[in-house]
Amino acid sequence: MVFYFSATGNSAYAARRIADTLDDRTVDIARALREDDMTFTLEPGETVGFVMPTYFFGIPVILHAFLYALQFVTRERHYTYLVLTCGGKTGAAGDMFAGIMRDNEYLLSAYYSVVMPDNYILRYDAPSQEETQRLLRAADRELDEICGDIRIRMNGNCDRHRGPVPGLLTKIAYPFYKRGRKTEKFRVSDACIGCGQCEKLCPCEAIKLENGRPKWIEDQCVLCLACINRCPQKAIQYGKSTLRHGRYQNPEA
Ligand SMILES: Cc1cc2nc3c(=O)[nH]c(=O)nc-3n(C[C@H](O)[C@H](O)[C@H](O)COP(=O)(O)O)c2cc1C
Repeated sequence: MVFYFSATGNSAYAARRIADTLDDRTVDIARALREDDMTFTLEPGETVGFVMPTYFFGIPVILHAFLYALQFVTRERHYTYLVLTCGGKTGAAGDMFAGIMRDNEYLLSAYYSVVMPDNYILRYDAPSQEETQRLLRAADRELDEICGDIRIRMNGNCDRHRGPVPGLLTKIAYPFYKRGRKTEKFRVSDACIGCGQCEKLCPCEAIKLENGRPKWIEDQCVLCLACINRCPQKAIQYGKSTLRHGRYQNPEA
């Protein structure tokens, strides 16, 4: 079973590729939370994977709630792995996830990461089409290697993209995300046609249309940037930087 959380499609793509290669099934974490469908029956010998983006060298906050509510029906200990998708560096996100798993009495067997196009357009410009294709081809190779490791039930920290001083990166950056993320900087321009795609695509139900315009619900928003990256009219901005930046979504999203 491969659980995934994804905003712009990279992690969904990675989860599907892993599941297809290993003849496994995928579960959308956001949908499971929405439908309050959190008990999963595992087959004997089935592996359990988690695929998600890296946020501020940590994990999306929605995962804390998910792991807390998750229940497995099983009689055995299953091989369990994490695959972080990232734009370049994960810091100690894998250790963070392993810690939260331990707090919920699960054991993470191995963790990995894979570099994919960066969707953090609040800071970086979106990659060009050529760069996106190059990154996705390299990601496929990394994912195939990860599948090879999962097949032989590799154990331990196998994250190749932690960067220098990973613990420090996470310690400094993650609190800005966990406590400091704000929705007040989201703005909608006159290009908005009130199509409601942002509300539909938001994996966390953090957007409601009011008078045909999106309104963000701060408590629900995990800053995944699906709304801004996937708005068909490019009508959503965040602060000033996104006026200059392109938008990203995985070509298979
Ligand atoms: C709020 C936010 C913070 C991010 N922080 C990091 C980071 O610390 N390190 C990194 O390499 N990529 C970072 N990224 C990039 C994403 O992890 C990466 O593009 C990921 O593959 C997106 O996955 P998705 O398409 O499944 O949503 C960040 C993206 C967002 C939206």
